[in-house]
Amino acid sequence: MSTPEARKDDVEHPGQDGSPEAGHARSARQQNRTPILMARQLEKTVDSGSGRITILNALDLEIHAGESVAIVGSSGAGKSTLLALLAGLDTLTRGELALFGTSLSSLDEDGRARLRSGQVGFVFQNFQLLPTLTALENVLLPLELSDSDVDTQQASQWLARVGLEARVQHLPKQLSGGEQQRVAIARAFVTHPALVFADEPTGNLDRATGDRVADLLFTLNRESGTTLVVVTHDPQLAARCDRTLTLDEGRLHERINPHGSSHAPDGADRR
Ligand SMILES: Nc1ncnc2c1ncn2[C@@H]1O[C@H](COP(=O)(O)OP(=O)(O)OP(=O)(O)O)[C@@H](O)[C@H]1O
Ligand SMILES: [Mg+2]
Repeated sequence: MSTPEARKDDVEHPGQDGSPEAGHARSARQQNRTPILMARQLEKTVDSGSGRITILNALDLEIHAGESVAIVGSSGAGKSTLLALLAGLDTLTRGELALFGTSLSSLDEDGRARLRSGQVGFVFQNFQLLPTLTALENVLLPLELSDSDVDTQQASQWLARVGLEARVQHLPKQLSGGEQQRVAIARAFVTHPALVFADEPTGNLDRATGDRVADLLFTLNRESGTTLVVVTHDPQLAARCDRTLTLDEGRLHERINPHGSSHAPDGADRR
């Protein structure tokens, strides 16, 4: 989609029950609320050895509180670049971007970090755990950096929720890729953020562990109202989100998932 007007024509709008009416009712509800995240005419260009590359081009997006949104697209389409911009971790070339109703362009790096603090969790594609800290210390870090109480028990419980109760004292280099990914997920959720960005959160996990992590994401989305923005190459994970946005040629194309939000593909929760 490129503009809100274009979206009316571009987007399939079935509701949770698949009916166009339910889809329109949902859209009407969303129109009455301020988006938690809003991008207008977002552009990102970078200079490379072979000249200037446009990664994102006049991209529009609105995400409302409590939604789960999948971002899909081919490798190199710009998904990780988009996620970093939306979270205020990278700067735009052009356009408008507002997070929790605050324009990110009005803030410097410290201001953006303060806005994110305790409210935004991020699961990086390459985890970005601090190598000298144990799994537990990595999970405690966002609590230390925000005004939250530093609660070791809470951090341990998060590691247990991702199946790592026996790995709390391990350094990242003593953990497998999938284990590091799960530490990154525990770290993203430990502050009970309103919004979580996850870049391929199940990318390094076997199907059973990936399903468990996905169940955890959607349980939090359903029970705590955590808004989820998930980049994934896994069509099953994307189908569980309320909406799927495909990134292609620097823009997003949207589809509403008839069976999206929180349920396993077979309709039965695994938890
Ligand atoms: N700083 C940079 N300088 C030059 N090119 C860059 C830079 N950052 C990203 N790119 C290019 O932008 C494109 C998008 O990269 P990005 O990592 O966002 O893709 P992606 O959709 O997340 O891919 P994947 O599915 O493989 O993770 C790639 O072609 C990448 O090489
Ligand atoms: Mg990526």
